[in-house]
Amino acid sequence: MDLTQVFKNNEKWIADKLALDSHYFDNLAKGQQPEVLYIGCSDSRVTAEEIMGAEAGEVFVHRNIANMVISIDLNVMSVINYAINHLEVKTVVVCGHYYCGGVKAAMIQEDLGFLNPWLRNIRDVYRLHKNVLNAIEDEDEKYNKLVELNVQEQCVNLIKTAAVQKAYRDRGLRVHGWVFDMKTGKLIDLEIDFPKILANIMDIYSLM
Ligand code: CO
Repeated sequence: MDLTQVFKNNEKWIADKLALDSHYFDNLAKGQQPEVLYIGCSDSRVTAEEIMGAEAGEVFVHRNIANMVISIDLNVMSVINYAINHLEVKTVVVCGHYYCGGVKAAMIQEDLGFLNPWLRNIRDVYRLHKNVLNAIEDEDEKYNKLVELNVQEQCVNLIKTAAVQKAYRDRGLRVHGWVFDMKTGKLIDLEIDFPKILANIMDIYSLM
């Protein structure tokens, strides 16, 4: 990517936006009221706003390797708390994707140095669902399933936070798990049963 081109692209983008709405940037500068918090993978092929057709100001975005919600990661926890308690988003989405390098790396028996503790959380997801995963013979199918189960477990991790629990109780906050299939471009709703998961784990994780 030619970085000098970036600034030319930016000039064109400004002109395009202003041609449609002369107050576009004045309005952007007034503030944000996004209704969705999106937690996705850093993968360069999964362009959060583009795959959702979202405009600037509509989605609060956090991306990290393999769309993880880790309780001691101050970064993701700050984003979650700010989005829920201050921006008062109505929905939180964890979006994984097939062909995720982070998930693949967690399926390999290899010392990946600094990445080990991060990927360890995905290995934990594998362990939790070992019976289901080991019953799948086809490697690609197993890989896809782990991507989906990882999204599900990160939704569970969201539910373990006080911010999500209280916003669910007080104003019906929703949590969704999605997977992006870059081979087709499709965004798939895993239809995770949020109230059922919540009911199942609250005796252990309730912070209220
Ligand atoms: Co990924």
